[in-house]
Amino acid sequence: MSFSKIIGTGSYLPEKILTNHDLEKLLDTSDEWITTRTGIKQRHIIDKDQKTSDMAYEAAIKAINAAKIDKNTIDLIIVATTTPDKVFPSTACTLQNKLEIDGCPAFDVQAVCSGFIYGLSIADKYIKTRSARTVLLVGVDAMSTITDYTDRGNAILWGDGAGAVVLSNSHEPGILSTHIHAQGKYEDMLHVPRKIDQSKDTIEMVGNQVFKIAVKTLDKIVDETLEANNLRKSDIDWLVPHQANIRILEATAKKLSLSMDKVIVTIDRHGNTSAASIPLALDEGIQASKILPDQLVLMEAFGGGFTWGSALIRI
Ligand code: ACO
Repeated sequence: MSFSKIIGTGSYLPEKILTNHDLEKLLDTSDEWITTRTGIKQRHIIDKDQKTSDMAYEAAIKAINAAKIDKNTIDLIIVATTTPDKVFPSTACTLQNKLEIDGCPAFDVQAVCSGFIYGLSIADKYIKTRSARTVLLVGVDAMSTITDYTDRGNAILWGDGAGAVVLSNSHEPGILSTHIHAQGKYEDMLHVPRKIDQSKDTIEMVGNQVFKIAVKTLDKIVDETLEANNLRKSDIDWLVPHQANIRILEATAKKLSLSMDKVIVTIDRHGNTSAASIPLALDEGIQASKILPDQLVLMEAFGGGFTWGSALIRI
């Protein structure tokens, strides 16, 4: 039996930082409100001449170096993003070109904040079915490019960044299981209406309702993941959650009876970077030598669609 395993991680954050105090000058809000309700203090924002694929490239190079592989051995590139450079081609194709790799399949996955988990699920299955041996998976988003900076219930949340992993075939299980779901009936609760009528090209969200559904849904996916692997809550070493709101993270940690020092938290510095948030947090946890080899990591996400998912991995 062939398994897949993460053999390298990398991440990238743009230099420019937008603090809560900067937002106080633009909106009727306060650092105190944002901090208390979301846990966010600042977020990174791309430059005008920077693109999603530029961030993806920076994170990918670091992951490839960490994995110590020849980039030409990559036989599949997946990019999870909601903010592609262009309508087409995919950002994965643009990234392939920037990496000077030729011929391997490359495509984007669109599942908003759950995109990295969706991508991981696909990468795992390609490797397990021996359709690929080495996969580059990037979660990247430039959420600032689709944010309405006059909408205080929304603009405070989003940040830009990229995280990447290299997965390889392995004799021992790295990805133990992935679980992905969607419920399209909630389309209008969190969406960008653009494209069809050109009327609006920024995020609209019924934040407080999304919040409640997210907490309930993440509760269920934690149970689903533990049951699928015959594990108890106490077996989990680390929670690496999608970073949407500190209160959502705390609710999931409580469900797992995990103390917050077993949760990788980046939301205070990154905001919600959508598909990038989990691989950014994973890389940070590994670089800081918090997450160690052989440990069991639960990753989960909830986002527009609605989509949600989880992955249980052994490092
Ligand atoms: N500053 C000050 N006051 C504000 C702000 C702000 N930035 N934003 C909203 N308020 C006010 C509202 O107007 C409202 O005032 P009112 O009581 O006078 O009507 C009050 O604060 C409460 O508003 P709520 O929207 O109920 O506030 P809530 O505590 O729910 O926080 C938030 C809003 C932060 C958006 C929260 O609901 C949230 O995080 N939602 C979930 C987001 C999420 O998980 N999304 C999914 C993933 S993202 C993706 O897939 C792309």
